[in-house]
Amino acid sequence: MPAAIYPGSFDPFTNGHLSLIQRGLQMFDRLIVAILVNPKKTPLFSIEERREMIQGAVKDPRIEIDSFQGLLVEYAKKKKVSVVLRGLRAVSDFEYEFQLANMNRKLQPDIETVFMMTGEDYFYVSSNLVREVASLGGNVKGLVPQNVLTKLKAKYSGG
Ligand code: PNS
Repeated sequence: MPAAIYPGSFDPFTNGHLSLIQRGLQMFDRLIVAILVNPKKTPLFSIEERREMIQGAVKDPRIEIDSFQGLLVEYAKKKKVSVVLRGLRAVSDFEYEFQLANMNRKLQPDIETVFMMTGEDYFYVSSNLVREVASLGGNVKGLVPQNVLTKLKAKYSGG
């Protein structure tokens, strides 16, 4: 299959995301990792920081790292890509992902969402939990790539 868009907030990028990208690359020739610019949220990391974190963690010429604002389906149309890749961890992800995929299909019937299971080592890892644990001084080593770990430490030590 030619290309897919892997959209998300990636605040921060975790080993769960990395695992999904690695799996995705076995299925697609090219992946566009698309960071959502969400004016309604105050992120921990800026878009530029997130882009750098992903770049530092994924060294593969088949990956493009980009950001987008507004509707995902409009972005996909602009990029001329008709497949959206999303990860599924536990059953709890399903309801939200089901809504998202169906809303996107309603908005743009040509766009198909493909789900892949997150690597079994990272089923419980989410950016939200990583942020919370790191902000409270907990160790998130092994849950995020090394360069992200360094960034998190700097962020929470006032660096
Ligand atoms: O990593 P996340 O926060 O779970 O990713 C959610 C994302 C970025 C895939 C989703 O919020 C999104 O596509 N937002 C763009 C706005 C949009 O298209 N909304 C309508 C679809 S319901």
